[in-house]
Amino acid sequence: MTEKKTFYITTPIYYPSDKLHIGHAYTTVASDAMTRYKKQRGYDAYFLTGTDEHGQKIQQRAQEAGKTPQEFVDGIVSGIKELWQLLDIQYDDFIRTTDERHVKVVQDIFKKIYEKGDIYKSEYSGWYCTPCETFFTERQLAEGHTCPDCGRPVEVAHEESYFFEMSKYADRWLEFIEANPDFIQPETRRNEMISFVKQGLEDLCVSRTTFDWGIPVPIDSKHVIYVWFDALTNYISALGYGTDDDSKFRKYWPADIHLMAKDIIRFHAIIWPIILMAADIPLPKKVVAHGWLLMQDGKMSKSKGNVVDPVILAEKYGVDAIRFFLLREMAYGMDANYSEEALVNCINIDLANDYGNLLSRTTAMIEKFLGGVITPGTEGTEFDAELIELAAATPENMARYMDKLDAANAISEIWKLVNKANKYVDAAAPWALNKAGETEKLKTVMYNLAEVLRQVTILISPVMPHIADRVWEQLGLTAETAGSDWTALEWGKLPAGTRIKRGEPLFPRIEWEKQQAAPAEQPTPAAPAEAAKAAEAAAEIAPLKPEITIEDFEKIDLRVCKVLTAEKIKKADKLLKLTVSLGNEERTVVSGIAQHYTPEELIGKQLVIVANLKPAKLRGVESRGMILAASCGDTLQVIEAPCDILPGGTVR
Ligand code: ME8
Ligand code: MG
Repeated sequence: MTEKKTFYITTPIYYPSDKLHIGHAYTTVASDAMTRYKKQRGYDAYFLTGTDEHGQKIQQRAQEAGKTPQEFVDGIVSGIKELWQLLDIQYDDFIRTTDERHVKVVQDIFKKIYEKGDIYKSEYSGWYCTPCETFFTERQLAEGHTCPDCGRPVEVAHEESYFFEMSKYADRWLEFIEANPDFIQPETRRNEMISFVKQGLEDLCVSRTTFDWGIPVPIDSKHVIYVWFDALTNYISALGYGTDDDSKFRKYWPADIHLMAKDIIRFHAIIWPIILMAADIPLPKKVVAHGWLLMQDGKMSKSKGNVVDPVILAEKYGVDAIRFFLLREMAYGMDANYSEEALVNCINIDLANDYGNLLSRTTAMIEKFLGGVITPGTEGTEFDAELIELAAATPENMARYMDKLDAANAISEIWKLVNKANKYVDAAAPWALNKAGETEKLKTVMYNLAEVLRQVTILISPVMPHIADRVWEQLGLTAETAGSDWTALEWGKLPAGTRIKRGEPLFPRIEWEKQQAAPAEQPTPAAPAEAAKAAEAAAEIAPLKPEITIEDFEKIDLRVCKVLTAEKIKKADKLLKLTVSLGNEERTVVSGIAQHYTPEELIGKQLVIVANLKPAKLRGVESRGMILAASCGDTLQVIEAPCDILPGGTVR
């Protein structure tokens, strides 16, 4: 028997809080989906998460709650485990830094580094941010003595401390990063980390004496070990490093991926590798930082109180939909804005319209035209090859992104196949084949659709763990007959003669009142009542919006598009419905330019479209994208793209 390849992924260990929000959930969901995906591909995948329970902050909060720190954390950890269970997080181990097994390993590593001479005793004099559990020098602080990371006030720390001589390892770290250019992902973070180290590494204070809720320094029990030194070690203590049974450590270490949000990349990409270097332990293979889930007032965080409770969302919309939304929405390495409306849009469009509807129309037609039985026919259509080719290419297309934890693009690749299948229905027109008595062709078309649904469902299962059972039920399959891993992706594995069983829509459309109103971001001229006000403001140049970064800008996908058709929308005197070509696709866009252009004037024009704008419904018409126009006062003109750039060309 050949040994399976191993894959070890970790999330950060979370600070105990009864307010874990969907920002926290993003990391666990992404890690869970990644683990399931690796298992589908035959890996022995191991997924670790846990809780980070020591430190000044916890001690303070326990005091406020009138509990001992241990009582305090015990009360919270079970709730965190329940949340992960609710979200279908299948971790292989849950480590708590108060676990005996962890405490011992941290002390051993501390001692090892101390004995080597890289930890020394001295006096700390500087600043400390308790919420972030981070030391800062005077020059690192933000204005008014606040934390440069979270903006809250810092405290003076002046105490006898042990120091870890990190500075000694700066060159080795830089050499390592040079030799392993993929170690820190994405690249922007890598560059940040390199410049941070090049500015000069200071020795790290690794013990505290002003409180006692921590792991005692093995050689000096007056001190407790700095909480980050303690916490980072969880990634190997959980594997039994240095203990009698270190079989897991030998099997899974070095970790394939440490995943976290960008705010704690420095600890994982610099401090942790240097601890490992000093302790003569191999370094992990990759440290990946994702962006933040943002609310209108910035990062979603428990200290800000602007959190969205995953329990409530899951009850309202279902766990699969929440998981899908989180992973679909957060572009690789970037921040994502959270809004319930965006969630509803994602459910309505990607899940209800594209995927769910593909299943409903496929099963409806199989029932109506073929008595409910899926069997390939002896003849095919001219549209088959393209669909089957894309189905064959999709796993690899998806894997290219998923392997680097770019779940958003991985899902996009799967959705290309979903959309292709929907277009295939329109092109192959089973109803016409039925009418013409082309039964063999009809059987093939319906088989192909069911087969694509089977493949898409297997591919998306790591993201939506419940979906497969629901789809199999309607397609008349079981986990065994449908298959569940990549070996089942071979085209044609759907057994001939399968009898379907129609059911409820997978994702019923959600009515969202707000969506009915014209969204503010569309360049729709103001409503009649406000038109006068708008005219008044016309003389003025609009003030500039707040500054954005180049990364913000790069999120916007501007494309050249060609107007194919244009028509007025009934009872909406400002809106035009356009069909535009983006080269490889056509789409409908609603644009608020009816008072400035006749439909005829626009046909044939090359314009600029915001191509990756979330679809929105305007007067019952789904608009996919936004046409750019320049305006001042009452004048408005669309931005025309040069004619010699083909539709689909990018605008930067
Ligand atoms: O930092 N968007 O724990 P923590 C995206 N205990 N991800 C978010 C998020 C948001 N708005 N808010 C939190 C700690 N996260 C330390 C870690 S590891 C050795 C010690 C996620 O409870 C993200 O993964 O503050 C972030 O890194 C993690 O929660 C930190 O959670
Ligand atoms: Mg935090």
